[in-house]
Amino acid sequence: MSETELREQAAHWWRTSICDIAPGRIAYRGYPIEELIGRISFPAMVWLMLRGELPTPARERLLQAAPVASVDHGPHAPSIAIAQMAVSCGLPLNGAIASAINTLDDVHGGAGEEAIELYEDVLQRGEVGSIDRAAGDAIDHFTSTRSKYLPGFGHRFHPVDPRAEPILALVDAAVSEGAVSGRYANAARAIERVLQERKGKLIPMNIDGAAAVIYGELGFAAPLARGIFCLSRAVGILAHAWEQTGRKDRNKGPMPKQFEYKYEGQPRRSLKGAP
Ligand SMILES: CC(C)(COP(=O)(O)OP(=O)(O)OC[C@H]1O[C@@H](n2cnc3c(N)ncnc32)[C@H](O)[C@@H]1OP(=O)(O)O)[C@@H](O)C(=O)NCCC(=O)NCCS
Repeated sequence: MSETELREQAAHWWRTSICDIAPGRIAYRGYPIEELIGRISFPAMVWLMLRGELPTPARERLLQAAPVASVDHGPHAPSIAIAQMAVSCGLPLNGAIASAINTLDDVHGGAGEEAIELYEDVLQRGEVGSIDRAAGDAIDHFTSTRSKYLPGFGHRFHPVDPRAEPILALVDAAVSEGAVSGRYANAARAIERVLQERKGKLIPMNIDGAAAVIYGELGFAAPLARGIFCLSRAVGILAHAWEQTGRKDRNKGPMPKQFEYKYEGQPRRSLKGAP
């Protein structure tokens, strides 16, 4: 193989359509960085990097709303608690952020990915005239194949998640402007409605379920809902980790040491007399 062919093969190995760098030149998705700096917002940059084009102003506003809503949920949230504990054990900020982000999965923070899949299942089953029936079938399918807990609904602390309604109101406004279709919002509301009928109580849409409506309406693939949530929560994680660096407590556990945990194992016994 000639040297030129080898070089081409190596370049192909790291091929990308995202970032073009040469000495003295940086471009993202074709736009020179010097044109982007000061001109586009961070959410627009996220959109450009993930989707390859710039969003319309209405779509940019919608994309901005979801990550603002989910930056933090206090020290009881596992992701935030872990950031504090990691710093108290001596980890620098980057280590604390990495540890905390790793807890964001289907149950905590990462439910948006599954929620989009659920809404898409509803939409595929048919949305004209019978969306509640489609929602019921999608609920049955999810419950029998994955979990009795529907992603994006319910909350341990909030009887009604205060972040969901403002997000849905923004989606409704964007629908009126013609910026998005409203199909994901309809699917999510149908799930909530059918769940309430079946359970006899409201299991309200939570932040992940509402944010998933935004990401779905905007055409983001389901795994990106979790990815963007991680970007958002990283802000809260960083803030709490930084706050913790200013404190003297070291090796902070999940509870002050005067609180005991419950031991449920064998009573004390002895190795004496054992073979
Ligand atoms: C967030 C969550 C862990 C809170 O759970 P919890 O308040 O401890 O709920 P419990 O396990 O005590 O359930 C209480 C009842 O509500 C029901 N319920 C709670 N969340 C539900 C959900 N998402 N889907 C269906 N039913 C749900 C339970 O089935 C249970 O009903 P039952 O009494 O008939 O058995 C749970 O709602 C959940 O796993 N949601 C899905 C994941 C998610 O969206 N996570 C992001 C949270 S911001």
